[in-house]
Amino acid sequence: MDERIISANFMMEDQAVELSLRPRYLNEYIGQAQVKDNLKVFIEAAKMRKEALDHVLLYGPPGLGKTTLSNIIANELGVSIRTTSGPAIERPGDLAALLTNLQEGDVLFIDEIHRLHRTVEEVLYPAMEDFALDIIIGKGPSARSVRLDLPKFTLIGATTRAGLLSAPLRDRFGVVSRLEYYKTDELSYIVSRAADILGVEVLGDASDEIAIRSRGTPRIANRLLKRVRDFAQVRGDGIITTELANEALKSIQVDQLGLDQIDHKMLQAMIMNFRGGPVGLDTIAATIGEESQTIEDVYEPYLLQIGFLQRTPRGRVATPQAYAHLGIPMPDKN
Ligand SMILES: Nc1ncnc2c1ncn2[C@@H]1O[C@H](COP(=O)(O)OP(=O)(O)OP(=O)(O)O)[C@@H](O)[C@H]1O
Ligand SMILES: [Mg+2]
Repeated sequence: MDERIISANFMMEDQAVELSLRPRYLNEYIGQAQVKDNLKVFIEAAKMRKEALDHVLLYGPPGLGKTTLSNIIANELGVSIRTTSGPAIERPGDLAALLTNLQEGDVLFIDEIHRLHRTVEEVLYPAMEDFALDIIIGKGPSARSVRLDLPKFTLIGATTRAGLLSAPLRDRFGVVSRLEYYKTDELSYIVSRAADILGVEVLGDASDEIAIRSRGTPRIANRLLKRVRDFAQVRGDGIITTELANEALKSIQVDQLGLDQIDHKMLQAMIMNFRGGPVGLDTIAATIGEESQTIEDVYEPYLLQIGFLQRTPRGRVATPQAYAHLGIPMPDKN
């Protein structure tokens, strides 16, 4: 499993604090201004008309706040939320049970909605569009379809892989919002807020030091804060100063840009063994002893995002920024 401290994926150690750190209302949800502003209007309008909010699709990389925002939407609407996930709904009947138990206006939150079974997805279409459930009664030639009315509800779907969603499903969402990576000042604010909740004092620029290493991701920011807090407690007097934050982050081997040893190993291998590329994914994988799939899904995205790697038809290339960051001179082109 992916247990890197700078992994954006949910890990068991996040569980303890995630609930208490999760913002509950829009005004506590930092950043994502565009998405928030739009949602504010739609929520307000739905409340004024006393109608269910349009179905909402939230997509974007892990740890950016999709689950958080879904719960906030329900809170702001003042309705209940039922939470499930694509793979958890095994049969159409499971979905039917969920839908018929909703109250008027409720939110049904389906996480990892790209992993819905095809047969389940088909039940969802009329439910989303007409708030109706078509069920088949009987078997064989005497089978007939009966239409059941459902309460008007809001479906919120979340996914890290919007591209895997079928077109008919995607088209049935009235609001489609993409969450973006957070800016450093936003993450710094998230760190300060989390520190307040955890009851730990963060001085000066210490929250910035954590923020810049968080790969644009609140989940990572919170995790790094927890680790730095441990250092503050054991090595210091519990207060997180800039100096202490730097020392702690160095000890856990997260560099100035949030890269860890694995990132370094991969970039170094490309630069030292292949003159920076182009080098094929499988070759990189074999060199550093990893699966190609893991490199593509886990290691590479952030390096691509910060412009350290480029994908070309002939393979991966380490960019001048990557050389500069590792302090290795670029080879002479000839
Ligand atoms: N805008 C925000 N402001 C403050 N904290 C945030 C914000 N977004 C996320 N967080 C923090 O980051 C944590 C992770 O967010 P969340 O679980 O909502 O991410 P996600 O997008 O659902 O991730 P995944 O794709 O893994 O399901 C939350 O527990 C919360 O503490
Ligand atoms: Mg989530």
